[in-house]
Amino acid sequence: MWLETSNKALEKIKADFRIVLVCGKNLKHRWVSDRKLLEKLAYEGADESICLLAEKGEVYVGVENAADPESFRIAAAKAVGALKGLKIKSVAVGTYDKKGLANTAAIAEGLLLGAYEFTKYKSKAKPSTLETVTISTENYFDAKVAESELKTLVDRAEVLTKAVNLARTLVNTMPDGMTPADLANEAAAVAQKHKLGCSIYDEKFLAENKMGAFLAVSRASSHRPRLIHLRYEPKNAKKTVAIVGKGLTYDSGGLSLKPSDFMTTMKADMSGGAAAIAIIGAAAELKLPVAIHAVIGATENMIGGNAYKPDDVLTAKNGKTIEVRNTDAEGRLVLADCLCYVQDEVKKLDHIIDMATLTGACVVALGEYTSGVMGFETKLKKSLLEAAERSGELAAELPFNRHLKKMIKSEVADMSNVGATRYGGAITAALFLSEFISDENRDKWAHLDIAGPSYVEKAWGANPHGASGAGVRWMINWLEGLK
Ligand code: BES
Ligand code: ZN
Ligand code: ZN
Repeated sequence: MWLETSNKALEKIKADFRIVLVCGKNLKHRWVSDRKLLEKLAYEGADESICLLAEKGEVYVGVENAADPESFRIAAAKAVGALKGLKIKSVAVGTYDKKGLANTAAIAEGLLLGAYEFTKYKSKAKPSTLETVTISTENYFDAKVAESELKTLVDRAEVLTKAVNLARTLVNTMPDGMTPADLANEAAAVAQKHKLGCSIYDEKFLAENKMGAFLAVSRASSHRPRLIHLRYEPKNAKKTVAIVGKGLTYDSGGLSLKPSDFMTTMKADMSGGAAAIAIIGAAAELKLPVAIHAVIGATENMIGGNAYKPDDVLTAKNGKTIEVRNTDAEGRLVLADCLCYVQDEVKKLDHIIDMATLTGACVVALGEYTSGVMGFETKLKKSLLEAAERSGELAAELPFNRHLKKMIKSEVADMSNVGATRYGGAITAALFLSEFISDENRDKWAHLDIAGPSYVEKAWGANPHGASGAGVRWMINWLEGLK
């Protein structure tokens, strides 16, 4: 499905269906063709509620708050969700901004996010017949909208949502169909498409570079690890940013095995890595004036005779030693070496952002809809929180403190890979990562824990069931805002 724009009035656009987003429960609006009928059906246009008038070819969706773009993103996604099973090809929708075009941009994104389907494993998949949604410049509040501006915003929405949907598909693919080698191939394909630099390394490189933490995690898997490094280096780059993604293509927990109920969905433990690949591709497509290094640590965390074990002591690339007390805290071990790698490899980084489904504790702290933001630098964290807000993703800061820092002390090695208590687990995990950030880079680093929103077990917002592509729209908005 794709988007088109039109100068024509909504009524003049030939389409099988029309979407009407109801603001402030106003059923007296001129776009509501038959208020009596809606009233008969007891439809009030309340938040996210849907009414499909099949014979009229209309679908109504309530908008929670007409001053909030995210409300429109969700309503638009709900609308396509209701239409994508019908045997129709074309849909029309109007614009909804009193000023600017933020609501309409959100609608464009919502339509494309809501149209996403993952049917790879359905033997009798019926792909949606929906082909186009035409956005008319006609405005709900009678504001003037220029088609050229509409077109620009639609183009950006297409790049953004294509990236989100790519990340979703990489994560939704079953773990045996998305091994570290498979993920590396996908990364290489993105690199080729967008003319990015691309290096892919295997365990030999990890050993040669003394990345003992990453190697240990990968040891028991028959699918060998990959370190993926993509580069986007435009001539007009104003800043250089590293995006480091946790790419656990499967996290069984290792010898500290996860209980079955917690193991399902762990194909999504590569969400940070998938996001990093999608983000750098989109940044290149949008020609953002920012140099980006995407580094992904791709491996499985499995069990076997050669598995790494609790009580082992590992040495990371920077020489620091780690007592393993729980093999399920593997993401931080992989990221530790990837963070060292990117700092050694790329001189003069302005920002280092890591993205990871790192802890269940973050989900407990913030709920499953919100990502955690951690780091030392207030301004950087603030810019990340503001970008999340603009993108429609939810994020909140989890603060460091001197007491939690002591929780990862070890009697045996330089540090332990888990905190002494489970309280504040998202923060102690981030403090562990901070041990692998050099002093000069301390204020350049932030950690995003996307464990909550990355996988959707019951559809919410603009996300159908499955991978959400969390972090992609967020980071693109952040990169766009860099000065
Ligand atoms: N991949 C998990 C974290 C996770 C949990 C992601 C739920 C998404 C949803 C991570 O590797 C893990 O298992 N973390 C442990 C850490 C603990 C052993 C200190 C956790 O959160 O329980
Ligand atoms: Zn784990
Ligand atoms: Zn994990």
